[in-house]
Amino acid sequence: MGIISLNHIMVNYRIKDESLAQDGKNRIDWAEEHMPVLVSLKDKYCNIKPLTGIRVSGCLHVTKETGVLIRTLKSSGADVSWCGCNPLSTQDDVAASIAIDERVSIYASKGVSTDQYYHDINSATKIRPNITIDDGADLTVEIHKFIDDFTSELYGGTEETTTGVIRLRALQKVGKLMYPIIAVNDAETKHDFDNVYGTGQSALDGIIRATNILFSGKNVIVAGYGHVGKGISKKAAGLGANVTVTEVDPISALKAKLDGFTVTTMKQASSFGDIFITTTGCKDVIGKEDINELKDGAILANAGHFNVEIAVSELEQQSSSKIQINENIMRYDLNHKKIYLIGEGRLVNLVAAEGHPSEVMDMSFANQFMSVLKLAESKGSLSPLVYNIPREQDQEIALAKLRSMNVDIDILTQEQEAYLNGFSQGT
Ligand code: ADE
Repeated sequence: MGIISLNHIMVNYRIKDESLAQDGKNRIDWAEEHMPVLVSLKDKYCNIKPLTGIRVSGCLHVTKETGVLIRTLKSSGADVSWCGCNPLSTQDDVAASIAIDERVSIYASKGVSTDQYYHDINSATKIRPNITIDDGADLTVEIHKFIDDFTSELYGGTEETTTGVIRLRALQKVGKLMYPIIAVNDAETKHDFDNVYGTGQSALDGIIRATNILFSGKNVIVAGYGHVGKGISKKAAGLGANVTVTEVDPISALKAKLDGFTVTTMKQASSFGDIFITTTGCKDVIGKEDINELKDGAILANAGHFNVEIAVSELEQQSSSKIQINENIMRYDLNHKKIYLIGEGRLVNLVAAEGHPSEVMDMSFANQFMSVLKLAESKGSLSPLVYNIPREQDQEIALAKLRSMNVDIDILTQEQEAYLNGFSQGT
């Protein structure tokens, strides 16, 4: 715990180690170098400070990329408080820099208990936010429990993930969503890049950092063929693995098949998989029966949002002993076989690696920042619904990203536009 005062502003924080701040600052600087779209927004708004007087509470993985988002919010005038959105994903050096260098009230450290996790979320709401930024909807759902304390000042919130948007749409469906949410995840410049290329690379990065295993020649089983599953399957195949996909949705299964992957049930796949990666957002995807079928030495990892996809409690129950192989691998000794679980079944890309590369978080967080600006402008006038990102915002971000990569694209002529918008010209 710590409190520092700057110009009479008190900054409270709960971080692991203040002495890590310089390392964290260096890494946030590195990320900033690779996030040109977000930095261009920071430069655009640092003088006019459109978020002056706006209080923002964020609950999102404390990574170097999130550090750049926090810097952008702060330099646009916002008062910011923050907490992690996963007990194992906080980068402690980054948390230290956010507290000490950015003077942001942050409550986060790697390896917290569930109680501490929710305590941190509640600490981050103490500034009485006008706007929330969420990743997985834990903050938003928590605020809904005490909504009477907040509603008059809440303009709205944003949600980063597929899982969080599903939860919040479910809340809306039963008529219980109490403040407007912008579904950042549903922007094309978010889920078509972050979920596909970001998780595709960072999930394998996590498994490789934890195990140093050779993917080439291995049977890799990817559960789920949504954006995340697609990205992981493609990258694993690129490393020379034999990729098998399991699915419950016939259309997604068909896509996987026509993309060249073997498609089968988890029951079948559990007997021949070397490495399993869950990406579904559903629970018990590798359940009791599947665990029974697993072969000796199978490695299990989860890249979906919550730690419910692999039935870890079954592993615990069925094993006679377990041994921590390294920080991120637990070996479970079951009847005549050993099963390896990475990162306790939590998000492998953030627990065992550093999350998505800065270049993709650039677009996700540009969407976050622009959504915060919209909510600040709305001053609470939006109805309590889940909103999509406007197409123009998506296109603006995509164009800015292309420009940062020195990529030119064609522009429609007037005649072409008229043709595309008309009906009269046929065969
Ligand atoms: N989610 C996945 N990767 C991330 C990152 N690098 N920063 C914040 N949130 C993330």
